Amino acid sequence: MNSEYQIAVMDGDYIGPEIMSAGLRVLEEVSKHQNFEYKIKHILFGGEAIDKMGNPLPESTIETCQNSDAILLSAIGGPKWDSSIKRPESGLLEIRQRLGLFANIRPTVITKSMQPYSPIKINHPVDFVIVRELTSGIYFGTPRFRTSTEAVDTMSYNFNEIHRVAEVAFEMSRRRKKHVTLVDKANVLATSKLWREIVSEVAKNYPDVSYDTSYVDSAAMKIIAEPNQFDVILTENLFGDILSDEAAQITGSLGTIPSMSRGKSGPVLYEPIHGSAPDIAGKGIADPISMIKSVSMMLENSFDRHDLAQLVDLAVNRSIEQGILTPDLGGTASTNEVTECIIKSIKESRNEYATK
Ligand code: IPM
Ligand code: MG
Repeated sequence: MNSEYQIAVMDGDYIGPEIMSAGLRVLEEVSKHQNFEYKIKHILFGGEAIDKMGNPLPESTIETCQNSDAILLSAIGGPKWDSSIKRPESGLLEIRQRLGLFANIRPTVITKSMQPYSPIKINHPVDFVIVRELTSGIYFGTPRFRTSTEAVDTMSYNFNEIHRVAEVAFEMSRRRKKHVTLVDKANVLATSKLWREIVSEVAKNYPDVSYDTSYVDSAAMKIIAEPNQFDVILTENLFGDILSDEAAQITGSLGTIPSMSRGKSGPVLYEPIHGSAPDIAGKGIADPISMIKSVSMMLENSFDRHDLAQLVDLAVNRSIEQGILTPDLGGTASTNEVTECIIKSIKESRNEYATK
């Protein structure tokens, strides 16, 4: 048994520290008397790191991440650094690449309690996940340059980059509804044609998993029109970026969706999929659920504590059912009220167990 886990925590910018503190309070509560010991190490990253160290991703931050069992990140960036030489976002791309976090997993779950908040008509459960390639494609391709009259970005993929993330998607589907959809633009892009070739080969190793493909424009429609036809969507970096925001929105709010980014081995990074929301920073009204669910994802995936993750998820659902909601979901509650409600509910379920 591990005696004590180390969790690296990057508090982030604007609403970042507000939601991180909510996530950590929930972690503290749920792990009480549960034989789950951990130590938090706060490290600098993003805009805060630019301000204090002149670099969004200081070397000491990477080192601490590499030596941790899991990494929690809230959200970084914002207008304050619009004109700085290095933007906080460049730190995000760099950390993904340096830690080899090539697979980004973003769930879209519309539970019964969330159904009323969805902007689309839903009369069936929605539960799919996007597996987004995270360390290649147009985000990292070269050449990349800009002159005053021309700009070039390059989308490039090789066998290994496609193969390893495809395996993540198929393995994941086996623990779900056993269906993988590759989303691409194979009617136009050379990279997409390569993806199709490689992924259809990987699919042959998973005869128990059904496999189909969809062009990205059509997939964008289906996410709204028939989201329940998806189980695991596998896609490249930029398509995944766009589709995961769209998918998040059909749940009612971007403010409730966690994500995880992982490589072949090493610590996994957990973060909300949304940004640092400068417009609401300091007002105490940011939705803490995305961060709290990132904590539950961490408990489940990095520490194999399904029991604790479930306690958190149940408590989140209860708070939604009770209508304790921040303004992104149409409510009037504060970050603190939602967090308190979730903590109270965790305490109650624990007491229920204890008295059974
Ligand atoms: C995300 C974000 C980042 C991305 C930005 C901030 C660079 O939108 O994690 O989805 O595009 O990957
Ligand atoms: Mg994005």
